[in-house]
Amino acid sequence: MPTLGGGARRWRLLLPLALLPLLGGAGGGACPCRDPRLCDPLTGAGGFEVFVFDVGKKAWKSYDWSKITTVAAFGRYDPELMCYAHSKGARIVLKGDVSLKEIVDPAKRAAWISQQVDLAKKQYMDGINIDIEQEVNETSPEYYALTELVRETTDAFHREIPGSQVTFDVAWSPACIDNRCYNYTGIADACDFLFVMSYDEQSQIWTECVAKANAPYLQTLVGYEKYITMGIDPKKLVMGVPWYGYDYVCLNLSKDHVCSLSKVPFRGAPCSDAAGHQVPYGAIMKKVNSSISGILWDEVQKSPFYEYKDSLGHFHQVWYDDPRSISLKAAYAKNQGLRGIGMWNGNSLDYSRESVAEQQTEAMWKALTP
Ligand SMILES: *[C@@H]1O[C@H](CO)[C@@H](O)[C@H](O)[C@H]1NC(C)=O
Ligand SMILES: *[C@@H]1O[C@H](CO)[C@@H](O)[C@H](O)[C@H]1NC(C)=O
Ligand SMILES: *[C@@H]1O[C@H](CO)[C@@H](O)[C@H](O)[C@H]1NC(C)=O
Ligand SMILES: *[C@@H]1O[C@H](CO)[C@@H](O)[C@H](O)[C@H]1NC(C)=O
Repeated sequence: MPTLGGGARRWRLLLPLALLPLLGGAGGGACPCRDPRLCDPLTGAGGFEVFVFDVGKKAWKSYDWSKITTVAAFGRYDPELMCYAHSKGARIVLKGDVSLKEIVDPAKRAAWISQQVDLAKKQYMDGINIDIEQEVNETSPEYYALTELVRETTDAFHREIPGSQVTFDVAWSPACIDNRCYNYTGIADACDFLFVMSYDEQSQIWTECVAKANAPYLQTLVGYEKYITMGIDPKKLVMGVPWYGYDYVCLNLSKDHVCSLSKVPFRGAPCSDAAGHQVPYGAIMKKVNSSISGILWDEVQKSPFYEYKDSLGHFHQVWYDDPRSISLKAAYAKNQGLRGIGMWNGNSLDYSRESVAEQQTEAMWKALTP
């Protein structure tokens, strides 16, 4: 997933210590919530997870809080969001990212972990979502260190913040996607659950270089079957669905909707979704009416798409997920007894009060729990 907002933490650490008290909650001062009890960590075990990535600003005010169980705060620290999440009984967790080369050294690993725990305590957070998407070779020093990092982080958080949650983001399949070869069973064992990023599934295209769905239905299910077959309990898996799609410029667009792409290699594959650019669902739906195709449905990939011509005369094909495609996947998550569902990211919908947008946005939230 794109790494947005990672700068907030580093920025705060650079501030002179004398300034910290002025930041209130951010610096570890008094509880920033009107009701001080809202700074207590959440403890409930909870049923079905609805795990939301938030990337900043104030869109969270329009989220469907009747569903949310956890918010991963990937934007700048927002004490108002923390207080609000707690008032709704939802956890709020930090973003964790670190260079794997660095944490091969156990002392550096321990230092990083204690920094994260301290930060979580100061900000009254309920855990951490570890989002490391670096390349890892099987049986490399980083491979072993990563499993240890997850285990030690989980132990430290559970010990220091009772009821806290530690989760880890993995690709749509455990088959070394994007050269991220982990000890998946070891990592699943070592944390509360894995967030499976069932999107960017065209990050490495080995076959014909044409535009395809971001998260085709069957390909998505194959990923879960592999995780479960290797021995990971479905209760350790949260399905991540995309609230964004890809806009591709076609080198050539055929009548039967084959959009050929320029070859943009990624981590060894000759062709990838980097030939397109990511667009949030809200923006995608705003452009549907100016498409030349109207909304089309691919019966094999079970995904909507449409085509348009830009002002330079180039044809585009746009692949995305909508309530129809998401509810199919959500039904699988429910029927397989997965731990829950979530999305990248909560900010991607149109939260204006305009009536068409409002209906589309409501339908997207609804599709998570059919
Ligand atoms: C993984 O192994 C390959 C082949 O030996 C090497 O080229 C690459 O640099 C390694 N990547 C990492 C992240 O260690
Ligand atoms: C994965 O991690 C588990 C738990 O730490 C360990 O028992 C297992 O040997 C590891 N597997 C591999 C292939 O390294
Ligand atoms: C584009 O596709 C059409 C058929 O759909 C084909 O006749 C034409 O040769 C293609 N053009 C290029 C540049 O590949
Ligand atoms: C698109 O067209 C439909 C049907 O004409 C209309 O109801 C809708 O408001 C339009 N949407 C936008 C974003 O203009």
